[in-house]
Amino acid sequence: MKISEIYEKYNIMPYLQEHMLRVAGVASMICNNLNKSVNEELIFSACLLHDIGNIVKERAELNYKLHPNYFNKEVEKEWRKIREEFIRNYGKDDYIATYKILNEIGVEENIFNLIKSIEFAKMSLVASGNNYEQKICLYSDARIAPEQATTLENRLSEVKDRYIKNKGVTEDFFENLSNGARAIEKQIFDHCKIRSEDITEEQVKPLTEVLRNFDIHTC
Ligand SMILES: [Fe+2]
Repeated sequence: MKISEIYEKYNIMPYLQEHMLRVAGVASMICNNLNKSVNEELIFSACLLHDIGNIVKERAELNYKLHPNYFNKEVEKEWRKIREEFIRNYGKDDYIATYKILNEIGVEENIFNLIKSIEFAKMSLVASGNNYEQKICLYSDARIAPEQATTLENRLSEVKDRYIKNKGVTEDFFENLSNGARAIEKQIFDHCKIRSEDITEEQVKPLTEVLRNFDIHTC
């Protein structure tokens, strides 16, 4: 099933589609230039699906602020309706909602397991491991600002205050995870023909259109 068909079936809001497509776009730039063998199909599938249940946790006001190009009063009305339906069907926890949807779609277990590692809190763990599929997915997610691909440092400073407040963690804790992200960046680009600076919105955006046609294997 094409990812665009899955997005349509689940009424995934355009800004969230764009986020997942951009994450996959960053991952595809990395994979195309990597001197290491990784399972690209697995990586793209995980990136394209990783936040599919996110609407249940999001707040309208925050989305309004973060996605000014996608949101207006009309969209907000539609967004609230879709969100309520998602919560009725899949509950209020975004991780659980995502896992329930993945089960419903019938994604293969290895995609499911990779998606479970795409969590900012797992940065240090993934950095210390050897799994490049995990590293690429998690890092690519950390390169996407609300409406564009950006640098890792920009993204870290953008999320810092919100993460510390929402998760109730210390600045040191956040800094530790950030160092994990920086370590992953180095690990990836030590094996890559391009530099991290070569990944820009101008390069990533055109890839998102191609990735809409990506086929997700289901069982
Ligand atoms: Fe994400």
